[in-house]
Amino acid sequence: MGLPEGERDGRLDGKVAILTGAAGGIGRAVVRRYVAEGAKVVAVDVADTVHRLGDELGDSVLPMVADVRSWEDNQAVAAAARERWGRIDVFVGNAGITDAARPLEEIPGPQLTPAFEELFGVNVLALMLGVRASLDDLIAARGSIILTGSFAGANAAGGGVLYTASKHAVLGLVRQLAYELAPDVRVNGVAPGVAPTRLRGTAALGQGASDSVLDGTRAALPLQEVPDPEAYSGVFALLASADGEAMTGSMLTADSGLSIRGIARPGGRVRRPADG
Ligand SMILES: NC(=O)c1ccc[n+]([C@@H]2O[C@H](COP(=O)([O-])OP(=O)(O)OC[C@H]3O[C@@H](n4cnc5c(N)ncnc54)[C@H](O)[C@@H]3O)[C@@H](O)[C@H]2O)c1
Repeated sequence: MGLPEGERDGRLDGKVAILTGAAGGIGRAVVRRYVAEGAKVVAVDVADTVHRLGDELGDSVLPMVADVRSWEDNQAVAAAARERWGRIDVFVGNAGITDAARPLEEIPGPQLTPAFEELFGVNVLALMLGVRASLDDLIAARGSIILTGSFAGANAAGGGVLYTASKHAVLGLVRQLAYELAPDVRVNGVAPGVAPTRLRGTAALGQGASDSVLDGTRAALPLQEVPDPEAYSGVFALLASADGEAMTGSMLTADSGLSIRGIARPGGRVRRPADG
C-alpha cells in the first residue's frame, strides 16, 4: 500500500535505495513508500517471501534473498543495484531480530556467546557490512544512510540485555558514521516504539518469532494507539529525501510517546477507567 495518487510528490524520484529486512513489517512498508515516492529499491531479506514485493510493485523493486550477516551477500546486493540501476543513493539497514526480552539471569552461560554473536550479527555487524559494501557508491551519489534503531536504543525494558545493547550500538553507529562520512553522506536513524510485527527470535536461545505488541501495550502508550508499520514509513522517506538535507547524526524517535510517559497515567489527557 503506497500513498494515494494525489499525495505522491515524487520526492525520491531518480533515487536508488537498498533496504534490508524488506519481507515484512516496517521494512515492507518503507519499500512501498519509497516506490510510491519515485525510488527504485533493492529489497533484501533472508525470507523468500520478499519476492512478493516484485509481484506487487513490478520493475521498481529488485527483490533479493540474502543473509545480511554475510559480506559476500552484501557485496552481491550492492553489485545488483549497480548493475540494474547504475547507482546507490540510499542504504536502509533495517533487518533485525529480537531476544524476546530475555533477562541475563535466564540465559544459561554457555548460550550467551552464540546468542550474542547471532543477535549482534544481524542487528549491528550487518549494518557495518551493508554500509561498507555500498560505500563508494553512496559517497559518489552524496547519498543517505538510515539505520533502524528502537526505543530500546536509549531506554531499558524495550528488550532483554542483548537486544537493548544492540540497539544502543545502532545509535553509536549512526553518530560515528555521520562523523566519518560528512560532508558526503548523511547518516541518521529511526527509533520506533512498537509496531504490530512478529520479529524473529534468537535461535541460539531456542526462540521462534514473537509478537512485538503485548497485552497492555496500547494502554501504556501516551498516544493510546499501536501504529501500523506504515506509520513509520514517512520518517524513512523524509530522511532519504532533500527534506532531510540538514540532518545527520540524528536518531529520530517515533515511539508514540513511550519515552515521555507518566506514572499516574501515560499521558496527561489519557482517561483511565476510574475517570469514568
Ligand atoms: N516491531 C516493533 O515493535 C519494533 C520496535 C522497535 C524497533 N523495531 C525494529 O524494526 C526493524 C524491523 O522489524 P519489524 O518489527 O518490521 O519486524 P520483521 O520481523 O517484520 O522485520 C525484520 C525483517 O528482517 C529479516 N531478517 C532477519 N534476519 C535477517 C538476516 N540475517 N538477513 C536478512 N534479513 C533478515 C526478517 O526476515 C524480517 O523480514 C528491526 O530492526 C527491529 O528491531 C521494531
